[in-house]
Amino acid sequence: MTLLQDLESRLRSAVAAVLGETATVAVTPAADLRFGDYQSNAAMVLAKTRKTNPRALAQEIIDRLALDGLATAEIAGPGFINFRILPQAYAAKAQELLGDVKLGVPAIGAGRSVVVDFSAPNVAKPMHVGHIRSTIIGDSLCRIARFLGYTVIADNHIGDWGTQFGMIIHGWKTLLDPEALDQDPIAELVRVYREVNAAAKENPPVLETCKAELVKLQAGDAENLSIWRQCIDLSKLGLEKIYQTLDVKFDHWLGESYYNDRLPGLVEELLAKGIARESNGAVCIFSDGAKKPGEDPFMVHREEGWIDNPAIIRKADGGFLYATTDLATIEYRIDQWRADSIWYVVGVPQQLHFRQIFEAAARWGKTGDFHHVAFGSILGDDRKLMKTRTGDNVQLTEVLTEAVERAARIIAEKSPDLTGDEAAEVARIVGIGAVKFAELSQNRLTDYVFAWDRMLALQGDTAPYLQYSTVRIRSIFRKLDAPFDAAACEVVLNEEAEIHLARLHARFGELLPAVLEDFRPNLLANYLLELARAFHSFFEACPVLKSEEPKRSSRLALCELTARILTTGLGLLGIRCPERM
Ligand code: ARG
Repeated sequence: MTLLQDLESRLRSAVAAVLGETATVAVTPAADLRFGDYQSNAAMVLAKTRKTNPRALAQEIIDRLALDGLATAEIAGPGFINFRILPQAYAAKAQELLGDVKLGVPAIGAGRSVVVDFSAPNVAKPMHVGHIRSTIIGDSLCRIARFLGYTVIADNHIGDWGTQFGMIIHGWKTLLDPEALDQDPIAELVRVYREVNAAAKENPPVLETCKAELVKLQAGDAENLSIWRQCIDLSKLGLEKIYQTLDVKFDHWLGESYYNDRLPGLVEELLAKGIARESNGAVCIFSDGAKKPGEDPFMVHREEGWIDNPAIIRKADGGFLYATTDLATIEYRIDQWRADSIWYVVGVPQQLHFRQIFEAAARWGKTGDFHHVAFGSILGDDRKLMKTRTGDNVQLTEVLTEAVERAARIIAEKSPDLTGDEAAEVARIVGIGAVKFAELSQNRLTDYVFAWDRMLALQGDTAPYLQYSTVRIRSIFRKLDAPFDAAACEVVLNEEAEIHLARLHARFGELLPAVLEDFRPNLLANYLLELARAFHSFFEACPVLKSEEPKRSSRLALCELTARILTTGLGLLGIRCPERM
């Protein structure tokens, strides 16, 4: 049980004793430590419905509160109850966490399964920095959800079936350089796609040829199918390499093409159930009028007022669309995987698409807890969408390579005694960690400016700063003559810096569930920065190795707990920590 839950349950008992009935009460961490550690507005809420004086009610509740050894409570302002946790309670908590592999994090997800749909690049198109956000955020959400006890299914819903294949197949047949394909398949496929795309714009017959190749593919032509297969396999190999660099894993790669066979039947079913209807030869899902127009994803406001904004699921020419595939995907995930929730980590521009398919799925009876975990753009130094000097989208591999190179240069300068393989490994951990942390410490919805120097700084709100903090703690333990057994020593807290560190340790288990409430890994990132800062203040104020027993062991235990929470927390962001740096 976290301290917050403990306070809530004691508060609930006191409220029940005063009112003679049970009521829900909420305790939250206090915004300002001067007023205590936790706070509740329960007395104010309850007094309102009962038309009594909130301060008087708060006093009655406090009189009945059994807080023995845990905290003190006092009334503040119009009737808040402020709690201050006693140092010995924080000490007991630290002691408990030292013996807990989960570090106090409750298994709130036990028995629930969630599909996380993330990364999902498009085959034969380069994975650009926009996909980096999905990949990094999605991977972190998977890790956090698993740690909270959810059954997590990480699914890479790649775009492996689309109109781009007409061009790619034509290019494959006429422009392919087998050697280049061998060297870097993704780059060669992208080159071929770009050239054909440019040619098709200038030259209508080329466009016609591409369209014909696409029709042949869709009709099951053996040659085109085989080219398509090879494109997918080669692209996957290239993607696997990137995921390996990023330390990202998927349980499934069920791309769009996986659902092809299901699409005709799905459209028929939605027609038969009256969820979709024909309109100008196409099949569309329209508003059912159940929602106010402002909340209805199938309505849009134009000059002439509210008008229909249907989702097309079959074109007049018989072709299926992105929305059709996504509906088939929802059905599969719910029926086959028994998913309770699906989280889609996809950029803001697809917001309408997800509102429409969530609504359509609900009308179809495919219910679940669906979320579009949207994110904004990555901007260059000039605050415009990040581009290369030639104006192309920056590719993910280039970003990752540059991150590792820059980290290597810094490490060579700052830690010249690290050499060879070890230096290279540390550069990888620090470089990739810096990119991930820069992403995850931002509010996902804001556009963020990609700034190398800032993300790699050893002092600042960065991964290297946090990694360096863990290395610094490890170095303390290297100075000991005998292995340290934290579970065997008693934690005693006297100094304010010690108490504050233990306070933050206790928060870890309260904070992590909150991250998933609105899918905000930045809450975890910022917590880790706060913890590292508290550790450095503690380390300055409180000698560790030079202090007398039992203080020395107690402080060593605080060091160990800090290192474990920092390493675990960074691990949940997908960031590793080096032994030395
Ligand atoms: N391939 C799409 C893109 O790059 C993202 C797919 C997201 N997942 C989904 N189920 N629609 O824009």
